[in-house]
Amino acid sequence: MILISTLIPCPLVIVIAILSSSASHTDTATADESFSIIEATVDDIKLAFTQNKVTSRQLVQSYIDRINSLNRTLKGVIEVNPDALSLADNADRERRDNEPVSLSRLHGIPVLVRDIFDTKDKMSTTAGSFALPQGSVVPCDAGVVTKLRNAGGIILGKASLSEWSGFRGYRQPTGWSARGDYGVNPYDSNLTPCGSSSGSAISAAASFATVTIGAETDGSILCPSSLNSVVGIKPTVGLTSRAGVIPISPRQDSVGPICRTVSDAVYVLDTIAGLDNNDTATVPMPKYIPSGGYAQFLKRDGVKGKRLGIVRNPFFNFSSADVRNAFEAHFNKLRQEGATVIDNLQITNVNEILSDANTELTALTAEFKISLNSYLSNLMNSPVRTLADAIDFNNKNPDLEKINQYGQELFERSQATNGIGTKEREAIDKLARQTREGFVKLMETNNLDAVVAGPGGSNFPESQFPRILAIGGLPGITVPAGYTNQNKTPLGIFFGGLNGTEPKLIEIAYAFEQATKARIPPTITSLKYQTY
Ligand SMILES: *[C@@H]1O[C@H](CO)[C@@H](O)[C@H](O)[C@H]1NC(C)=O
Ligand SMILES: *[C@@H]1O[C@H](CO)[C@@H](O)[C@H](O)[C@H]1NC(C)=O
Ligand SMILES: *[C@@H]1O[C@H](CO)[C@@H](O)[C@H](O)[C@H]1NC(C)=O
Ligand SMILES: *[C@@H]1O[C@H](CO)[C@@H](O)[C@H](O)[C@H]1NC(C)=O
Repeated sequence: MILISTLIPCPLVIVIAILSSSASHTDTATADESFSIIEATVDDIKLAFTQNKVTSRQLVQSYIDRINSLNRTLKGVIEVNPDALSLADNADRERRDNEPVSLSRLHGIPVLVRDIFDTKDKMSTTAGSFALPQGSVVPCDAGVVTKLRNAGGIILGKASLSEWSGFRGYRQPTGWSARGDYGVNPYDSNLTPCGSSSGSAISAAASFATVTIGAETDGSILCPSSLNSVVGIKPTVGLTSRAGVIPISPRQDSVGPICRTVSDAVYVLDTIAGLDNNDTATVPMPKYIPSGGYAQFLKRDGVKGKRLGIVRNPFFNFSSADVRNAFEAHFNKLRQEGATVIDNLQITNVNEILSDANTELTALTAEFKISLNSYLSNLMNSPVRTLADAIDFNNKNPDLEKINQYGQELFERSQATNGIGTKEREAIDKLARQTREGFVKLMETNNLDAVVAGPGGSNFPESQFPRILAIGGLPGITVPAGYTNQNKTPLGIFFGGLNGTEPKLIEIAYAFEQATKARIPPTITSLKYQTY
């Protein structure tokens, strides 16, 4: 069975945004002295709205000021939405007029979306590459952007990323794109921000927006979230729409929130999850979405009675005693909170999976060519219509795209594929079998609610847990879990589970977060913090 889903483009209807400029009162640019956007949560802001301590315009202006002062160092943002202030005025008016939409959780809340989400506005959508033209050329908003806007969220701008989601060349640096430059980890400029949702995680960590969204094919939400000490949710594939998102693989791509707290991430998930007829993979998913949404699972005692599996080999074989001790303390904390921790479990085929990147790549390269060509063919007015055109653009602009340094071998390998043939079908079947015989069997045999792992990424080569979830389309959440290396390297803990088990993962993640309160905001020492 070919798992490639159909992404239906939107019709060529030009949607004219009607922006109200009727904000009659004059807001000053900055908020009430007592309100700071730094670390502000959705709930903090909702309260500040009702107490008239801040307006959406002031919020947006404060984030823009902060981006203007810190982005030149952190490079988390590629573009700010030139309409953000008028969208904010609109939200402020809707709240004053008590319009029903103003009751939604994300109403009036500024959101950064990674630069692979189509926005039908004055911003571009380029995956960080100059190959896609500047200016608005997409046919319509991405499905999740539509849901964010319908909920009253303000699209503040586009977050940076690893160019083409890291799928251009083997040597391209994580967090780098030609348009966005080299993303910097706000905890330590010598530490990778990880990718490919680098800018979303940097921006969440540095309070460039209230919330952000990213996307993951293999580790691209979980790894940067963990290394930038924020919360990332990688939903079950298809729970969130990929329509209007620059793709790698419809079988593995998943859109999810990257935020500073579990609650904020869950509010975003509540807003973006659900049916979008333009992404057929979302059609069977409403069965997983509990009535009343996900926020009901933000329970302080959510870990009580949960069965958590620990796969020490290889996920906790850390060479640093610091890191090992930090996680032992976390296991104890989870036990104290009422979890049954089942230790020393094995995923029978884990070495086979982790030592065999090629099977996944065989599937991904073919899926990438098909899905990118389909995405590009739906663009309006793009000179780049196919993967071949993008390769050609890079060859003609080697300096702009640093082609001699970073290459485009993944582009070329993908271009050399020819649909889903025998080899690709075998690879896809093998990935599904590896998931069934490994992770799924472990979960079922031990009746687990989640597997605990962490932190992963190139700084922790010992743990490549996100890959286990990625090849199976399975969900995972990461939560800040402390720091190592003189507090400069964030540690994240991962919770992964079976398809559709977001409610349990949210209960566990929230209870862990509340029991540990491990996140410490970055101190960007080389820069002065603005006070608002
Ligand atoms: C999907 O495309 C339809 C028509 O095919 C379009 O009207 C709509 O705006 C899109 N839906 C979403 C949720 O973006
Ligand atoms: C952030 O920095 C990058 C790299 O310097 C730049 O390309 C981008 O335009 C900046 N974004 C904003 C919104 O200033
Ligand atoms: C655990 O780490 C040690 C050294 O850091 C390494 O020699 C060993 O192979 C690792 N074991 C596994 C199962 O990865
Ligand atoms: C999980 O869901 C995805 C998306 O529907 C599917 O492709 C995958 O096979 C499922 N995985 C398992 C283990 O059921």
